[in-house]
Amino acid sequence: MSEKYDVGLGNHNVTLRKNANSDFVSFWDNQAKNLHWFSPWNQTLDWNPPFAKWFVGGKINACYNALDVHQETKSDKPAILWEGENGDSKTIAYSDLFIEVQKFANVLKSLGVIKGDRVTIYLPMVPELIVSMLACARIGAIHTVIFSGFSATSIKDRIDDSKSEIVITADGGYRRGKIIKLKEVVDDAIKDLDFVRHVVVLERTKNPISISSKDKFWNNLMDDASDSCDAERLDSDHPLYILYTSGTTGKPKGVLHGTGGYLTHLYSTFKWAFDIKDSDVFFCTADIGWVTGHSYVVYAPLLHGATQIMYEGAPDFPDNSRMWEILEKYGATIFYTTPTALRMFMKFGDDIPNSFNLSSIRLLGSVGEPINPEVWKWYFKIIGKEKCPIIDTWWQTETGGMMISPLPGLETIPLKPGSGTFPIPGVDISVVDEYGSEIPNNTKGYLVIRKPWPGMLLGLWKNDEKYKSVYWSKYLDCYYPGDYALKDDDGYLWLLGRADDVLKIAGHRLGTAELESCIVSDEHVSESAVCGISDDIKGESIIAFVVLKDGIVIDESLLEKNIFNKIRIDIGPIATPKKIYFVKKLPKTRSGKIMRRLLKSIANGENIGDTSTLDDESAVTEIQKIVNSALN
Ligand code: WT7
Repeated sequence: MSEKYDVGLGNHNVTLRKNANSDFVSFWDNQAKNLHWFSPWNQTLDWNPPFAKWFVGGKINACYNALDVHQETKSDKPAILWEGENGDSKTIAYSDLFIEVQKFANVLKSLGVIKGDRVTIYLPMVPELIVSMLACARIGAIHTVIFSGFSATSIKDRIDDSKSEIVITADGGYRRGKIIKLKEVVDDAIKDLDFVRHVVVLERTKNPISISSKDKFWNNLMDDASDSCDAERLDSDHPLYILYTSGTTGKPKGVLHGTGGYLTHLYSTFKWAFDIKDSDVFFCTADIGWVTGHSYVVYAPLLHGATQIMYEGAPDFPDNSRMWEILEKYGATIFYTTPTALRMFMKFGDDIPNSFNLSSIRLLGSVGEPINPEVWKWYFKIIGKEKCPIIDTWWQTETGGMMISPLPGLETIPLKPGSGTFPIPGVDISVVDEYGSEIPNNTKGYLVIRKPWPGMLLGLWKNDEKYKSVYWSKYLDCYYPGDYALKDDDGYLWLLGRADDVLKIAGHRLGTAELESCIVSDEHVSESAVCGISDDIKGESIIAFVVLKDGIVIDESLLEKNIFNKIRIDIGPIATPKKIYFVKKLPKTRSGKIMRRLLKSIANGENIGDTSTLDDESAVTEIQKIVNSALN
C-alpha cells in the first residue's frame, strides 16, 4: 500500500477544498452557479433526514443546460462521434443534436406525454438513445432507461412499477455481429400491460418485426415534427429519471434522481476528475443503460459542451483490437472504462495496444468495481505510457456521481494502485465499525456518508419506507452504501467490495435475492442460495446452491440447464450463474437465516471463520466436499 505514483497535471487548487471543508452548503451553492438557471434558488439545502432538497425554489432544465447553452459558441462542435459496431459512423454536432432533441420532444408531446409522465427507453447504444433522454428532460418527463441486455420479464417489472405509458425501442441492436431483437422483447414485456399506449420503434437493423396498433416508427414521427420546442422551467428537485438497480431484497428498486442537485454534482466532478478542456475527446465505454452512462456519457459531457466518442457494440468485436482502433481513430484524450474490460484487454496481450498510436491519451479512469493493483499498473504502463494519471472513481447509482476519486483537474497527489484516494470536496465520508464509531487506520470497516450531497437520490420510486430502511437505518442520519472500506495511514481510502448481498458481475450490479427467487420458482427446487466466486476477468461470477424438494429425483445437469434458461428469461443473460451445486442442506443460523458469507468463503477456498451461530455443522461439511471435488 505504500507504492506511490507521482503523475499529475500540475493543478493545485487548495482553496476549493478549504471552502468545502469549512461550509459544505455554501460550497455547493457556489458550484451550482456554473449551471444555467431560469430563476435562482432561495434555499441551498433543505435537509429533512433522510430527504434532501437542493436549490429550493430554483428553476432549471437539464436539456437546456446540455444543449441550448452551447448553441452560440459551439453549434458546429461535435457532441457525439458515434461508431456503430458494424462499421457505420456518424458525427453529430451540438446544433444537430439540438434540432433532433426538439423534434423528438415535440413527438413525445404529440403522443400525449406531459411533465411528470414516465417514458421507458429500451434502445441500443445509438445517438437516438441520447436524443430520447434529452427530449424527456426538455419537457419534464421522467425517463427510465433499461439496459438492452435485460429480458422481457425484467422490462415488464420496470414498466409496471413506473407505469410508463410510452416505450421507445428499436427493431434490433448489434452485439458481436448478431442482432438482438429488442422489439420482440418489448412485445413480450408489454403483452399484459394495457396501460402502455404507444411504442416508438427506431429502425436500426431492419430485421423483420411484427407491428401492432400501438407501434409508431421513429422516422415517420420525426418527419412530421417541428424543430422548435421550448425547455420547461422545472423545479430544481423535479425528477429527471428513474434507474432501476439491484439491492439485497426483492426486485430491483427505482432510484429516483432530481435535476438541479444532480447536474451540479455532475458538472463539478466532471471538471475536477477529468480536467475537461474544450479540445478534449472523451471516451467512456459504459452502456447508457447503467448509471455511469447516464451521468458520464449523457449529462456531464454535454453540460461541458465536450466532444465524446459513443460506441455501439462489444469491445472485442470484430477482434480484440477494436477499442484501441477507436481510440486511435478519433484521437481520444480521456478514456474511462471498467476493471473487467481492462482485465480482458490485459489478457489479450500487450502487443495489441502497443501496435496502435495512443499518444493522444492524457488521462485514464476506472469505474464500477475494485481495480486490482496489477491491472492498475498495466493500465498505467501500457495504455498511459507512464504519463497519464489514473482516476479510480468510487460511486453508485444512488450517489448520482463520483464520491471518491483522484481529481487531477483540481490537485496533483501521488496515486496508489487500487486506492480511490480521497472523497471529492463537499462530501463527508468515514469508515466505521458495526456501531458507527470511527475505526483505527488500516482496519476494514463500513463506508458511510455523513452529510447529504447534491447528486444524492431523491428517494426510491413510490417507496419511501424502503428508501429509509435500505440506506438510512443501519446508522443514524448517515447514508449506508453497503461497501467495505479502509483508510490507510496517509488517509487514502481503499474500497474493499460489497458488505451486503449485492453481487458485482463484470461491474454489473445484481442482487442475490432476485436470483434466488427466480431459482426457487422452478417446481423442483425447495431452497437456493447464491453467492459470488472470484473470477479472473469478471471480478466475480455467480454460483448457486440449490436444495431440491423432498423426494425429487432428477438429472441434475438437465435441471441446471433449465434453471440457467429461466434466469436468462426472467432477468437476462448477464445473470447466468457459472455453476449450480445441488446440496442437501444450506448452512443456516439457529434463527434460520442462510449464511451466504460462509458459502462464499467455501466457494472461494477461504477460511470459513467463526461458525458459532451455525445451526447444523453437517451442511458445511457436505458443501465443502462437493465444492472441493468440483474444483479439483
Ligand atoms: C457499487 C455501485 C460507480 C457507478 C457504476 C456502478 C462498486 C463502484 C467502484 C470502485 C470499488 C466500486 C461498489 C458500489 N464500485 N465503483 N471504483 N472501486 N468498488 O454503480 O451499479 O450502482 O454499483 O459498485 O460496490 O457500491 P452501481
